[in-house]
Amino acid sequence: MKKFFSVADVDNLKGIVSEALTLKADPHAHESLGKHKMLGLVFLNPSLRTRLSTQKAGMNLGMNVMVMNMDKDGWALETRDGVIMNGTTVEHIREAAAVMGEYCDILGLRSFPTLKDKEADYSEDLFNKFIKYCAVPVVSLESATRHPLQSLTDLITISEYKKTEKPKVVLAWAPHVKALPQAVPNSFAEWMSRAQAEGLVDFTIAQPAGYELSEEFTEGAQITTNLDEALQGADFVYVKNWSSYKEYGAVYPVQENWLMDNEKLKLTNDAKVMHCLPVRRDLELSSEILDGPNSLVIKEASNRVWAAQVVLKRMLEELRDS
Ligand code: CP
Repeated sequence: MKKFFSVADVDNLKGIVSEALTLKADPHAHESLGKHKMLGLVFLNPSLRTRLSTQKAGMNLGMNVMVMNMDKDGWALETRDGVIMNGTTVEHIREAAAVMGEYCDILGLRSFPTLKDKEADYSEDLFNKFIKYCAVPVVSLESATRHPLQSLTDLITISEYKKTEKPKVVLAWAPHVKALPQAVPNSFAEWMSRAQAEGLVDFTIAQPAGYELSEEFTEGAQITTNLDEALQGADFVYVKNWSSYKEYGAVYPVQENWLMDNEKLKLTNDAKVMHCLPVRRDLELSSEILDGPNSLVIKEASNRVWAAQVVLKRMLEELRDS
């Protein structure tokens, strides 16, 4: 594996989930694989889970890890080509990425969208340039449009906790006060659509009108604006807010109640409730669910380590064998 940016970088979902669960059972089984290898984690935005779980995953494989908070500690990056850098940017991504690639064997990058310019965000220009110029394998720690380590984690968690062969999984939009990226729901939809195509889940998306995701990510999914209907018989409910894709970055007022609580849970098949975290209590997800027996959010966050570790393991194996 040379990059981990989307579900397209994985050839077999069942295979990668099974390998991740084997690592979970014996985390240090490959502790010499990463000996004398350097993992660099570059953050242009805040993070708790991605930062710590990916560091831990690298360390479990025997890697050394460096973390760069580029937004706070790095030079202001220029990504455009052909511009005279006489403004506020100090270093071009061509040099910055190339230099980081000299220091590291594998790099991770987190870069959120602006939510102002749909075309620029969805072109993934910064990410593509980083991959091009660093010349080492790159793991997405969340890009403008996707969060693949989170989605792989979610698939691992669903596989672990499912009670039927093909569970019904519902991605449910939730309220928020801020405009949030579409990266997590895009990515979850992309991974679940592929899982559905491989016969692993039945997948439904419920969102208010105006909050439809880009069709690029939702192929094959049942899509509805009726949350109660979507929740009927659900085995897993994945709660997440996102801003509008169509009216890019907009937050529309929604009259109906989209907050997942114990009353709504009664409509489901005693569903497990998931959220990528961080979550705003009683705005995006009710405390009674978060503190109750159906919440999987902590187990899900814990599984972030095994998603990162299986991806790093595959990259290290390819470096070893090349
Ligand atoms: N879910 C997730 O990616 O969490 P962080 O933003 O804290 O890394």
